[in-house]
Amino acid sequence: MAHDDDGGTNAAAGSAIEKSEPPQASPGTAIVASDAIANPGLPPHRPRVTDLDPKKQKQAARRVSTLFLLSIVGSVFAIVAYIVFPIRPGVPSSIRLNTMFLGIGIALGLVSIGIGAIYWAKNLMSGEEMVESRHLTRGTVETRSRAVEIFQQANEESGFGRRTLIRNSLIGALVATPLPAIVLFRDLAPAANPVTLLEETMWKKGTRLTQDPFGTPIKAADVTLGSVFHVIPEGLDQVSDKLEEKAKSAVLLMRLLPQDLHPQPDRESWAYDGIVAYSKICTHVGCPVALYEQQTHHLLCPCHQSTFDVTNQCAVIFGPAKRPLPQLPITVDSEGYLIAQSGFHEPVGPSFWERS
Ligand code: FES
Repeated sequence: MAHDDDGGTNAAAGSAIEKSEPPQASPGTAIVASDAIANPGLPPHRPRVTDLDPKKQKQAARRVSTLFLLSIVGSVFAIVAYIVFPIRPGVPSSIRLNTMFLGIGIALGLVSIGIGAIYWAKNLMSGEEMVESRHLTRGTVETRSRAVEIFQQANEESGFGRRTLIRNSLIGALVATPLPAIVLFRDLAPAANPVTLLEETMWKKGTRLTQDPFGTPIKAADVTLGSVFHVIPEGLDQVSDKLEEKAKSAVLLMRLLPQDLHPQPDRESWAYDGIVAYSKICTHVGCPVALYEQQTHHLLCPCHQSTFDVTNQCAVIFGPAKRPLPQLPITVDSEGYLIAQSGFHEPVGPSFWERS
């Protein structure tokens, strides 16, 4: 507080003043209203029907247990539905059924626990209104032992220890609720060995190289110097898991001057007249390598900028990828169309898997 020349008292910023002195209040000054409404206190306690009638109390206990048991049923239903209605590739209705039944089961499991707990608290636990005054964060020894007493009393009044049917059904419901999540997480792991999956693509001896997305076969004469073709295997449209196969089999086709290519001795026959084919799936984490710089003969992955040198068997010259793009050996058939000599000789795509 500061005294003015008249001996009066002005409010300093942050101090509390009576509401009768508003002219001296500076911004931020708390105003203590002198006409605050009196605390009306708690209304008189009204016992519930379950407090007065032991029969109603038993009925309420049975309802709570039923809800917890319903929660167990919901969780088990979710697991069974996940197994009975699996998601089948290319069948949209299977996704709808799987998610619908899974959702119903998990919702039933969670909602039943919630309603059961609320019903238990409202009808069977102590209904006395209580007021707890604020106190220091860490209580005295007496306060702490009183807290233990309160917990014991709450245990006694809620019947958690005594009402074994409710307690056990609640424990069962809580144990069953996370089970669907465990089943779902388990399915995140690949069903088959990822190395085998990535090793096997649609490419095999004689498969024609066709343009993505129309499936038009490509003649060697159509691939001009400096051009790049996005390629899929012939017959991709006919397979059931088209997207999965495309994700593994996509290839980039480029033509360079034969003298610009520097193949290993055992790969000299893998190109046709300067035309080379490499997997389009980046060996870092699997993005499509879609950018070709025809002046430098570099392929660039747009995700993390891994750069591959086409003249040097797509060796990594920059970026996080750890191995070259796999090469597809190619040649031409009797009609001049480009065909694969064989499949890839190594797994395509990301190389973070343990490789065989
Ligand atoms: S996915 Fe190609 S660089 Fe990361």
